[in-house]
Amino acid sequence: MKTGNPFIVLGYESPDYFCDRQFETDTLISAIQNQRHVTLISLRRMGKTGLIKHIFYQLQKRSDYYLIYIDILPTMNLGDFIKELSKGILSANKAKTSIINTLIHILGHLRPKISWDPVTGHPAIELDVSNHREAENTLEGLFEYLNNEHKNVVLAIDEFQQILHYPEKNIESLLRANIQKNRHVQLIFSGSQRNLLFSMFQDQSRPFYQSTQIMVLDSIDTETYKTFIIDKFKAGRKEISGELAAQILEWTRGHTYYVQYFCNRLYGLSAKTIKMAHVQQIASLILDENVIIYNNYRNLLTKQQFHLLTAIAKEDVVKMPMAKDFIFKYQLGAASSVKTTLDAVIKKELVIAGDCGYFILDVFFARWLQSI
Ligand SMILES: Nc1ncnc2c1ncn2[C@@H]1O[C@H](COP(=O)(O)OP(=O)(O)OP(=O)(O)O)[C@@H](O)[C@H]1O
Ligand SMILES: [Mg+2]
Repeated sequence: MKTGNPFIVLGYESPDYFCDRQFETDTLISAIQNQRHVTLISLRRMGKTGLIKHIFYQLQKRSDYYLIYIDILPTMNLGDFIKELSKGILSANKAKTSIINTLIHILGHLRPKISWDPVTGHPAIELDVSNHREAENTLEGLFEYLNNEHKNVVLAIDEFQQILHYPEKNIESLLRANIQKNRHVQLIFSGSQRNLLFSMFQDQSRPFYQSTQIMVLDSIDTETYKTFIIDKFKAGRKEISGELAAQILEWTRGHTYYVQYFCNRLYGLSAKTIKMAHVQQIASLILDENVIIYNNYRNLLTKQQFHLLTAIAKEDVVKMPMAKDFIFKYQLGAASSVKTTLDAVIKKELVIAGDCGYFILDVFFARWLQSI
C-alpha cells in the first residue's frame, strides 16, 4: 500500500483504497461473464464510476478481456460520441500502432486527425461529422471492429443519459441496433438521472426496453464502512474510535464522496488520536470553505426555492412536502406554489425525490442549510 492519504476523493486507485462493494462487484462480473448488459444507477457521487474501475481492475488481470471506459457527459451529439468511443479504444490499447491504423481506416470518411496531449498523454481526435449517414456507418464500423476482436469486449458508457440531449432523433435505436448485432460486446450503462434511465430501459415503447439488468447502487453498509475507516487510520498509525467513525457516517449520511472527503480531511490533521473536537473542526472547516458557493446559490435561486431548500434540509427527509403541517411549520405559502417550487429544485438536481422522501442531494450543503 502506498503512503499518503488512504481516503481517495478523486478517481480509482486500487482495491486497497476501495471500501466493500463485494456483492455489486460479483454481480457485475457475473453479468459480464453471462453476457448480460447492465445498467448501473445511483445518486451522484455514490460510486458508480469507482465501481466500474474496480471491476475493470479485477478483469484486466485476465488477458481475455478487452476493457473500454468512456464518459459521455461532455458529448453533445453523435459525432462527439464517436470521438469518445474512438478515444476509449485508443486508451484501452495504450495507442498501439496497429490500432491507430485500424481506427484511421474505420474513421476514414470522417477525415480523422489524431494527436496526443503532450502533458496528459491522452489522445485527442478531430472528425468531420457533417454527413450524418457517414457518422452512422462509422459507428457501425467501430462496433463491428470491437465485435471482431477475438476477446470479450466490455464497453462501459458512463453518464449514458447524455444521449437523450443529442439532436439526432434516432440515437437510441441506432445504438441498440449496433449492440444487438455485435454479441461479443458487453455493455455497462451508467448514470445518475434515475427517471431518465428508468424510462429508457423500462418503457415498452423505447428501443432499450428490458435489454439490460438494472443495478441500483446504494450507500455502503454502515458497519462495513466504519471498519474501513478505523482500519485505514490504524494502518497510518492513527486512531479513531468506532463512535466517532459512526458519527461521521451519520453526518455525511454514508454518501460515499462525502464520507471520503470528510475522512480525507480528518486524516490530514497531524493528530494521532482523533477526538470529537477534531471531527467538529473538520465539519466547520468544510462548511466555511463552501460558504461562497452556498451564498451564490442564494443569488441563483428564487427566495421561495431557497426557503423550501432550507425547510427540507432542516427536516433531513420530507415524505410529504405538500402536507399542511410541513407547509405551516415553515410558512411556505400555498400548496400549489410549493409544488411549482419543488419541481424547479428537483429539475436543478438540488433536491432528490427518493423512495424515502425528498432530500437535498449535496450533503454538505444540507448541513450548511441546517446551520443557518
Ligand atoms: N467503494 C468505495 N470506497 C472508497 N471510495 C469510493 C468508493 N466508491 C467511490 N469512492 C470515491 O467516492 C467518490 C465518488 O465516487 P464516484 O466518482 O465513483 O461516484 P459516481 O457515482 O460515479 O459520481 P457521479 O455521479 O458524480 O459521476 C470518488 O472520490 C471515489 O474515489
Ligand atoms: Mg461517475
